[in-house]
Amino acid sequence: MKTSKKAAPAIIVIFGGTGDLAKRKLIPAFYNLFLDGYMPEKFAIIGLGRTELVDEDYRKRLNEGLAEFSRKGAPSEEKWVEFNPNITYCRSDIDDAQSYKELAEKLDVFDKEWGVRANRLFYLSVAPRFIEAVTVNISESGLASIPEQDRIVIEKPFGHNKETAIELNKLLTRTFQEEQIYRIDHYLGKETVQNILAFRFANALFEPLWNRNFIDYVQITVAEQVGVEDRGGYYESAGALKDMIQNHLLQILCMVAMEAPASFAAEEIRNRKVDVLRAVRRFKTDEVHHYAVRGQYGEGWVEGKKVPGYREEEGVDKRSNTETYAAIKFFLDNWRWQGVPFYLRTGKRMQEKTSSITIQFRPVPHSTFPESQGDSLTPNRLTINIQPQMDIRLRFMTKKTGLEMSLNPSEMVFDYDNCSTQSPEAYETLLLDALQGDATLFMRSDQVEEAWDVITPIQEVWENRESLDFANYAAGTWGPETAEALIARRGHVWAINSHKKSPAK
Ligand code: BG6
Repeated sequence: MKTSKKAAPAIIVIFGGTGDLAKRKLIPAFYNLFLDGYMPEKFAIIGLGRTELVDEDYRKRLNEGLAEFSRKGAPSEEKWVEFNPNITYCRSDIDDAQSYKELAEKLDVFDKEWGVRANRLFYLSVAPRFIEAVTVNISESGLASIPEQDRIVIEKPFGHNKETAIELNKLLTRTFQEEQIYRIDHYLGKETVQNILAFRFANALFEPLWNRNFIDYVQITVAEQVGVEDRGGYYESAGALKDMIQNHLLQILCMVAMEAPASFAAEEIRNRKVDVLRAVRRFKTDEVHHYAVRGQYGEGWVEGKKVPGYREEEGVDKRSNTETYAAIKFFLDNWRWQGVPFYLRTGKRMQEKTSSITIQFRPVPHSTFPESQGDSLTPNRLTINIQPQMDIRLRFMTKKTGLEMSLNPSEMVFDYDNCSTQSPEAYETLLLDALQGDATLFMRSDQVEEAWDVITPIQEVWENRESLDFANYAAGTWGPETAEALIARRGHVWAINSHKKSPAK
């Protein structure tokens, strides 16, 4: 996480430079960092791809991407003229050593021109099957030979089960030191997710209550309204468990459940997160159905429009067994959290796009007020809305104004809308951290492996046992009924944050 503004001179090399990610996320992030004065004085962005393209055409594509995807909109002529000469394009073949030789020569030219060996950031925005070729070639051509200065960023999916993640880690650490490897999980760059640490560890008020004695249960919801869009092919082999729970939701769980780190050092924070993953109780095969629910959307209505079921989407098997929804009840076997259920759920084609964390506190031990004189006492609840609504709300009971002693729940709200600064995109935060060599918000190898280990039993059961009730929820709803049953066993309900800015009941 950033401490000072400017990073040292840097060359950013994007493998997959003509891909969607570069256009939608990476270039808008670098451009916004540039506008805000965070890019190094001297920097170069080199896009690599198989297509024949001249620099001008490549820049034009990226400019169009900015207009469409940047939070600050289309670039002004004046700023674009300053920014775009830093971008070049190189036709390159991932498997061909010659391409890496040419790249090395190109990088040397920058170093000579700037009179300094620039830091190098290699961004692998490529399909997983190319990672080996790219890393081996980078290593053999000596492109990343200074561990303190050269880094590689790897996008998910990071393996497709525990074994493949271990293999990938072995492959990467044959050519790079762990400190050079930045495994990205963009949820960790979200402003609201980072704020969890500030909220928990920069206030004396909440931490004493943050445990099994005061907290009844925790819910983490990441609901999307979109379906699989044009990613049917990829999603078929992923599903909600691997696409979202293994990474984004488990990472949020770590932020909520971790012990206080001794310092803000990357290793400290990552150690505490791994502790959480190690504490997650592993399910036995025959327990999976008791703790985990899967779903797949059928056709339905989203915002007044009829949408097809998952099995009708392009690139999807007509009899697909892939889940587009997952809800899991986890327990953490440690002193702080023993007995507190952590309900995690995520799904596509849900009624609303909303991501939030709910910390439900225990009810008061004794009710002083007669029930007839107001609502029954509603337990305190802390809600951290991650997106699109961004706020932190604390619900507590108050007296209704009037002559009678009647009670109702009220809320105290910290709303990001009231902040003068617009929140940066997750990729801005993470790319700047990578440029500055700060790995706090990136995943270490053991974190990734533990996260796979946590989901392994569920993964094995779901992959090997066909679900007989798919499709089991209609698009535009809150998921299968079995997910309600999962949490109703303890008398709980999903806190659907559809109340939007009005006090939650
Ligand atoms: C990605 C998943 O990692 O996260 C997608 O592969 C999902 O399936 C996306 O849609 C959600 O990200 P965000 O930032 O839009 O919540």
